[in-house]
Amino acid sequence: MKKALITGANKGIGFETAKYLLQQGHYVYLGCRNPALGAAAVAQLQTAGLTACECITLDVTDAASVEQAVIALKDKTTVLDVLINNAGILGQMPAPEGEAGIINAQQVFNTNYFGVIRVTSALLPLLQQAAQPRIVNVSSETASLTLHQQPAWEYYGFKDAAYVPSKTALNFYTIALAFQLKDTAFKVNSVCPGFTATDLNNHTGVNKASDSAKIIAHYAMLEADGPSGQFFNAAGSIPW
Ligand SMILES: NC(=O)c1ccc[n+]([C@@H]2O[C@H](COP(=O)([O-])OP(=O)(O)OC[C@H]3O[C@@H](n4cnc5c(N)ncnc54)[C@H](OP(=O)(O)O)[C@@H]3O)[C@@H](O)[C@H]2O)c1
Repeated sequence: MKKALITGANKGIGFETAKYLLQQGHYVYLGCRNPALGAAAVAQLQTAGLTACECITLDVTDAASVEQAVIALKDKTTVLDVLINNAGILGQMPAPEGEAGIINAQQVFNTNYFGVIRVTSALLPLLQQAAQPRIVNVSSETASLTLHQQPAWEYYGFKDAAYVPSKTALNFYTIALAFQLKDTAFKVNSVCPGFTATDLNNHTGVNKASDSAKIIAHYAMLEADGPSGQFFNAAGSIPW
């Protein structure tokens, strides 16, 4: 049974991805910063008959929390097949002016960029024990520098100084990590779930989280000939 860890799995796209991977026969560790919310999410899955899951307390912005999570995980398993870096925040929209705007951007980067590096680095030794390790960095199409040059693109006006650049930075981490691991069996990709109705956007998104989860899960279950170091959405490859 393949083992997966998903950060920010107590709700939204992370929760639905956990559900979908469980349905595909994975064992899923739900990384959740709030243990009570994590326990409630696990209880919901188990009530639905999806019992191969448990919560790991994990705040991606807290080095001690990530260290404890890895210790807890190593007590349970010697191998991790899949890491989905899903935890993310939008930050304040519109961003405040001045120093408050900088603090907002720092908080967003702490979760969406530095949190991913922290968690991934800490889990690489367990992932390296897997025959076909897969890492999915949950990104956003709005992070595409190329598409931001195209006035006809639907998200052309969505230009901020926190969320969007945090995902652009995350995309380069995908490129860098995939390059570092290019001579191994790892597949590392950035994947955009699409504009999805979740708490992140007060449910203004148009896609259902259960559908978006399938896009993320597809790249978590890539075959050996699958791509690495690339950026995808539901329609396929997206330009950086
Ligand atoms: N929804 C969209 O339209 C959309 C589009 C493109 C990309 N995305 C990306 O998809 C991912 C999931 O977003 P979502 O829409 O499902 O949002 P969501 O419903 O707000 O869920 C976000 C999850 O991340 C967790 N989280 C936030 N900060 C964390 C931290 N420091 N440590 C651990 N977990 C943390 C949250 O935990 P708490 O419950 O404790 O807050 C929650 O479980 C994000 O990376 C987002 O940027 C979403």
